[in-house]
Amino acid sequence: MTGFVSSLKVFFVDDDPALREANVQALELAGFDVSAFQRAEAALEALSENFDGVVITDIRMPGMDGLQLFGRIRDIDPEIPVILITGHGDIDMAVKALHDGAFDFVAKPFAADHLAASTRKALENRRLVLENRRLRALADAADSPLIGDSPAITRLRHTIEQVGHADVDVLIEGETGTGKELVAVMLHRKSRRTARPFVPVNCASLPGEFAEAELFGHAAYILPHLKSSQGGRIEASNRGTLFLDEIDGMPLSLQARLLRVIEEREVLRLGADEPLALDLRVIAAAKPGLAQMVEDGLFRSDLYFRLNVVRLSIPPLRERRDDIPQLFAHFVQEASRKAERKKFRMTAAMRRHLIEHEWPGNVRELRNFAFEAVLDLHEAGQPARDSARATLPELVSRYEETLVREALEETRGSVSRACELLGVPRKTLYDKFRRANIVPETFRRK
Ligand SMILES: Nc1ncnc2c1ncn2[C@@H]1O[C@H](COP(=O)(O)OP(=O)(O)OP(=O)(O)O)[C@@H](O)[C@H]1O
Ligand SMILES: [Mg+2]
Repeated sequence: MTGFVSSLKVFFVDDDPALREANVQALELAGFDVSAFQRAEAALEALSENFDGVVITDIRMPGMDGLQLFGRIRDIDPEIPVILITGHGDIDMAVKALHDGAFDFVAKPFAADHLAASTRKALENRRLVLENRRLRALADAADSPLIGDSPAITRLRHTIEQVGHADVDVLIEGETGTGKELVAVMLHRKSRRTARPFVPVNCASLPGEFAEAELFGHAAYILPHLKSSQGGRIEASNRGTLFLDEIDGMPLSLQARLLRVIEEREVLRLGADEPLALDLRVIAAAKPGLAQMVEDGLFRSDLYFRLNVVRLSIPPLRERRDDIPQLFAHFVQEASRKAERKKFRMTAAMRRHLIEHEWPGNVRELRNFAFEAVLDLHEAGQPARDSARATLPELVSRYEETLVREALEETRGSVSRACELLGVPRKTLYDKFRRANIVPETFRRK
């Protein structure tokens, strides 16, 4: 695991402008990405669960004070590290706050170095927490199979089986929320590397001037605050899988260095003399259109050809609407389990949304919709705004198809019982199966 943490944020809260400015400057010099806040309320507003950073706050402030802020942050996400700055006479309070889970406190006056050291520890701590959460979520996701019986998804499942244990690099293309990361994890799970790290790197949100050090690692002292040498994300994936997410967002300036890693299977830490040999598999993900970016000179063609050994394309959900009912049922189950809600009733508004919506956010959007539906939060049950795009006959046949699929789900593939349920003769039902490519047997195994 790398100890390089400058990609995380530091929120600095202090009502005193002079102190605020001095500390922010010192922290920035130490290489941190700092946002300053004059009031606790404003900082709180900018925070949410899974915040990728730490909070440093003065205790004494007008309005919400630092301890109250700490309490509120604990409600949002108890694992966000909070460092308290204490004045004269606040030490007892600060010690109590430590007991309650504050990360650290520094007593005024303090040396800039001291605050920076504590901040670095807090950020490292936060990074580990976030990585663990992410890995847990990935493990959850990988345990659940790729849902869908549309031809495209059936083929994809088959290819994953085949390509998974072949140790080849893979490029996955698909719109947002189509399941690129899920597929990448599945490929890793199927490979001989499965017990080794799966290291995701979001190439579109690498932290500015630190991006190279973050990715490739660095020798000591190439920047004033880098006191010891450190491996980067790429090195961390050695013997495992490097997942280059949103590769289409990678700055051109970094692409040459990355090409070398992929071609030579070695990495040269910034400022180091000798490269390190790597054993890794590279899986990259991109939005559709990487080839066009190459033509437009926005993406290096040599890198593209290196990545494009095996390409998997995941079609958007609107092009495989057959998968919607099954995915929805799957996510409703997942949501019900997580929220410990037993009863779920599909309303007419929900059904209508499932049928009419175009799902620009693809499977992720559908999953969110299912969770909202189970938790009863859905505004999404309102008439869909994009219904204008489908014609009436289209809507009617989608609706019909949904009802047929639901009947088969309910009867676990029994055609006679589905006929009864829908009140249609067998022949009519079989016609509908044919028109919608429905295979009743596939509902039996569920
Ligand atoms: N076919 C599927 N079966 C089950 N779950 C799926 C399927 N496709 C996607 N998901 C789920 O949908 C969500 C979004 O998928 P994922 O994060 O892999 O998408 P993505 O293509 O990486 O999106 P983005 O480009 O926005 O990062 C995840 O919760 C994933 O587990
Ligand atoms: Mg993704």
